[in-house]
Amino acid sequence: MAKSIGFKKKNTAIFISGNGSNLENLIKFSLNEKSPIQIKFVVSNKKKAKGLRYPKNFNIDFKVYSFVNKSKSENRILKDLRKKKINLICLAGFMKILSKNFIKKFGYKILNIHPSLLPKYKGLNTHKRVIENNEKYSGCTVHYVSSRLDSGKIILQKKVRIKKKENHKKLAKRILHQEHILYPKAIMKIFNL
Ligand code: GRF
Repeated sequence: MAKSIGFKKKNTAIFISGNGSNLENLIKFSLNEKSPIQIKFVVSNKKKAKGLRYPKNFNIDFKVYSFVNKSKSENRILKDLRKKKINLICLAGFMKILSKNFIKKFGYKILNIHPSLLPKYKGLNTHKRVIENNEKYSGCTVHYVSSRLDSGKIILQKKVRIKKKENHKKLAKRILHQEHILYPKAIMKIFNL
């Protein structure tokens, strides 16, 4: 028989806006007995986010918040997170910046994954900018979320060497593959596993 892990899994919410490949990957990771997370809720700010197919397929609760009024949406999310006893948030391609107030009121860890070697290339269109600047390396970073964009404490990074004449789309694909390895590793790390 498999050995019990001896700890209670963290009730986790994943926030998305788009394709959700990191979400799919984290769902699969969470199903592993040794994983410290259990995904209880998916939040999206986009009704049509492709990634919403994953909570549907895996029978996980999800909800879309419009963010037309940011503070109202954030307060609604906080209320739902409390109801579901969520004590970890993983942002995975979530395109809204959470307010200081939200981060403080939630009170538990919030993680994010960014497709660059932070502190370099914060913000959008990272791969395009990296290629335009003829960088030799790029990569991805998992970090804690603070109220400043892509600026919280770094948990783990993976460096990727850029190939000769590689375009930003190919680079994005290779880095996304590394993201799928890095995010679970970073989660294991913060729980000392
Ligand atoms: C990833 O590159 C992630 O690093 C960035 O947004 C992208 C999301 O991709 N924050 P996906 O929706 O998880 O496929």
